[in-house]
Amino acid sequence: MKFLLHTYGCQMNVRDAEAVAAVLEAAGHLPAVDENDADLILVNTCSVRGKAEDKAVGKLGLLCAGKRLAPHRLVGVMGCMAQRRGAALLKKIPQLDLVLGTRQQQALPELLARLTAGERGILQLDDPTATPRVSQAHRAGAISAFVSVLLGCNRRCAYCVVPDVRGAEYSRPAKDILEEVQQLADAGVREITLLGQSVMNYGRSNAVWETPPTRSPGGFQEDFPRLLEAVSAIAGIRRLRFTSGHPSGCTNELIRAMRDLPHVCPHLHLPVQSGSDRILELMRRGYTAAQYLEVVGRLRAAMPSFALTSDVIVGFPTETADDFEATRHLLAAAAFDNSFIFKYSPRPGTPAAAMPDDVPTAEKIRRNQVLLADQDILGQRLNDACLNQTLHVLVEGVSLRNTQRWAGRSPGNKIVLFTHQPTIAVGDLVPVQITRAAAQTLYGDVVGLADAHVPSATLTPQAALPLPNKEPL
Ligand code: 5AD
Ligand code: SF4
Repeated sequence: MKFLLHTYGCQMNVRDAEAVAAVLEAAGHLPAVDENDADLILVNTCSVRGKAEDKAVGKLGLLCAGKRLAPHRLVGVMGCMAQRRGAALLKKIPQLDLVLGTRQQQALPELLARLTAGERGILQLDDPTATPRVSQAHRAGAISAFVSVLLGCNRRCAYCVVPDVRGAEYSRPAKDILEEVQQLADAGVREITLLGQSVMNYGRSNAVWETPPTRSPGGFQEDFPRLLEAVSAIAGIRRLRFTSGHPSGCTNELIRAMRDLPHVCPHLHLPVQSGSDRILELMRRGYTAAQYLEVVGRLRAAMPSFALTSDVIVGFPTETADDFEATRHLLAAAAFDNSFIFKYSPRPGTPAAAMPDDVPTAEKIRRNQVLLADQDILGQRLNDACLNQTLHVLVEGVSLRNTQRWAGRSPGNKIVLFTHQPTIAVGDLVPVQITRAAAQTLYGDVVGLADAHVPSATLTPQAALPLPNKEPL
């Protein structure tokens, strides 16, 4: 059977889609080139905003209507909306063949066998009482991979539908994660991004080590730094990232791990959501603007080249012009390298849905545009500061727009484009001197290739660049 996946939403969904593709390929199915070529189309959905759900429902409707011309084609839905709406989706779109929960990737081959046998309208949702089975399967050939470490979320932010959808926090056993990373490294992967809604909560809700690890003097006591240390020690891994963060997880030990462990990139995605203490409290975020900035201060003090990205919601219930100004101030004070701005969307069943959605749509749009413009100016200024610096770039491939250029990312996760060189290969770490800076992209030239080109794992980005002063934390 030939399958096609349409994926919306965050990195969790990207990872789930990859797991599904790998599971299907292992079962002998093949990826389709396009919709017409596909026997099975799965729409991998996001529930975070109403619009994302509306679009997915529209897409599913179209795909199901297309069955008139290709009656054999199966159409399924997976991801957050599938889990959240379940049977209601089958009612709304009766031609749907399959509705799959967020922890059901492994069940797919068996479900496809049932579909092939003629069954339709299969509903396979997550069982909140079962220990999740997490697929370790990845597709071959990548240099960068996502690895889920923490499923679900226990933080009940007032606006967010995720805890209802993805269930309670569950930390995967460290042994499974390390095995998965080892396999990835053996297959040529050089960069790992550990995923979790509040990834620094790893190990807080269930035990993760088979036997309690021996704790070396000066070693890490907390589970997430310990995991970073273990993953970073796996041969072949040159870069380690993790997302998303929450200020409560930014302990001194975590910051020390980021600063001192080889391969851990000095970059954090730390959603702030608002700069107004009143709104932050209504959102139940668990920190004030000052506390957020204090955390940022500690991160920057430990890592001079630290890069920070964030999420912001505009138009949360009762957000006034003054609250919004406070957010603008925070954005400037935190100096985000990049931020994603969202217009508040009430989600059924969340505490915020019971509050009045009283910021008019036009005002939400305006506030969104103001922050986007602020962020553009800020991003350009921060990128300008990279001019003439030499950044270590992990080569990801040839630039899509211009095949004369290579594309890769800096430790701070900025996209860097540089002149194509035949001696460089995907997965190499190369020093690139920045010659031009746009708001979203840096451009540069490879420097000192003879002695600084790193085709093997012998050098780390940190070791190849001047080391920052290390104060004890
Ligand atoms: N409305 C708008 N944005 C939201 N997000 C989460 N829930 C909502 C909502 N109800 C945003 C947050 C989060 C990002 C993934 O999506 O900023 O960090
Ligand atoms: Fe990701 Fe949240 Fe969207 Fe689900 S609802 S795909 S967890 S952003």
